[in-house]
Amino acid sequence: MSATRPDVIRLILDDHESFRARFAELDTLRDDATAAAAVWGPLAAELEVHATAEEEFFYPQLLDRVDGMVDETEDAVSDHDEIRHGIRRAAAAEPGSDEWWAGISDARAANDEHLAEEERDDLAPFLEKTSLEVRERVGEQFAAFKREHAHGAGLDYSDTGSDEYLAEHT
Ligand SMILES: [Fe+2]
Repeated sequence: MSATRPDVIRLILDDHESFRARFAELDTLRDDATAAAAVWGPLAAELEVHATAEEEFFYPQLLDRVDGMVDETEDAVSDHDEIRHGIRRAAAAEPGSDEWWAGISDARAANDEHLAEEERDDLAPFLEKTSLEVRERVGEQFAAFKREHAHGAGLDYSDTGSDEYLAEHT
């Protein structure tokens, strides 16, 4: 049975890998706005779905189950909001324009820093301190949220706000 239930750590790492690959692909499409837009549109939506799924299901569990994770969670939510700023900057610009690329570049810079920090400071302690059963249960919720909000359905890319988030979850 457990083979069919995904560990949330695996799901998050798979998303990270896919984000890295697609940002790298965008670098090769600087001269082809149509092709770049075809990569960026779905990527922007998945960044938002992923960040929101983490905020809904992963970070509350991290705060509950691992001591001393408040600063790390604040950092992560702030990073998610920075990624969202880049996405919104690009969304307000003409695809292929300098401003559009600047928004993508903002999102990428925030995302690059965030993924490395999250893997080291958040995923690693969660993996160490929780059982496979817990990680699979969170994984099911994470996967269901992603299915429900495929292509960003129902999400609005607005800031979560780390202060508000912590007030609600701690
Ligand atoms: Fe994240």
